[in-house]
Amino acid sequence: MNKALRKVVIAGNWKMNKTPAEAKELIAAIAPLVKDADCEVVACTPFVDLTSAQEAAAGTNIQIGAENCHWEVSGAYTGEISAQMLTSMGVNIVIIGHSERRQYFGETDVTVQKRVRAALDAGLTVILCVGETLEQREQGITSELVAMQTKIALGGVTEEELKRIIIAYEPVWAIGTGKTATAEQANEVCHTIRECIASVYSQAAADGITIQYGGSMNAGNAAELLAQPDVDGGLIGGASLKPNDFATIVKAATEG
Ligand code: 13P
Repeated sequence: MNKALRKVVIAGNWKMNKTPAEAKELIAAIAPLVKDADCEVVACTPFVDLTSAQEAAAGTNIQIGAENCHWEVSGAYTGEISAQMLTSMGVNIVIIGHSERRQYFGETDVTVQKRVRAALDAGLTVILCVGETLEQREQGITSELVAMQTKIALGGVTEEELKRIIIAYEPVWAIGTGKTATAEQANEVCHTIRECIASVYSQAAADGITIQYGGSMNAGNAAELLAQPDVDGGLIGGASLKPNDFATIVKAATEG
C-alpha cells in the first residue's frame, strides 16, 4: 500500500511544560503557521492546560490531546485522570505508554495494555509508545522487544479498534538527548512494527496503521525521517514547544 494513503500525524508531546496561560500563547503562535497542513496536527498537553489549549485551538486544525489516562472510570486513584474525564471535556486523543512513564513511574506493558483498553472503550484515539533502551539496542533485541511491547499493549484490541491506534516508535536513547535515530534505523523498526501488526491482524491493518517516529526529531532532521516509507509522522518533544520548529516539521510531513 502506498504510504500516501495512510494518515500522517504530527503530534507534539509537551510533557511537563507550560502553564495554562503559556499553553494558550503557544497554541496561538503555532496555529497560523500550520493552518495549511495537509497532515493531522496534534498537541498533547499537561492535563491542567487542556482547557486553555482547546480554547486557543478552537476553529483551527490543531487537535488537543492528553499525555496519559488511567484504566478505571473513577475511584481511589490519587493523582490519576480517567479516559472518561478526558472525553467529557472534548479530548479525543491520548498518549499511552510513553517511555518516561515506563522509566520514572513504574508503567509496565501490562498497565499500558489496561490504559489502552480503557482509552479505546471511552472512544479515544491512542498514540501508543514503544521503544528500546540503548542497552537493549546494544544487546541486539530491539526488534523482539518492540514487537513484544506492541503485542502486549494491543492484547484484546480488535482490528476495528486498531483504526484508533497510532503507534509511536520512540527509541529511549534518542529522547531528549539530541541523538536521533538515523532515518534507516527509524524506518527499520517502524517496518518491524508494521510486520508485527500484519502477523497479529492482517496485511490490510498493517498497511493502514499510522506509525510515527519520535526522539529528537527537529526542524533539521524531520524531512529525512518523514521521507522514509514506513515513517508516517512524528511524536515531537522539545521541538513542539518552538512554534517555528514545530511548523517546519509539519511542513516536512506534508512533503514526505
Ligand atoms: P524529544 O523530541 O524532546 O526528544 O522527545 C521525544 C518524545 O519523547 C516525544 O514523546
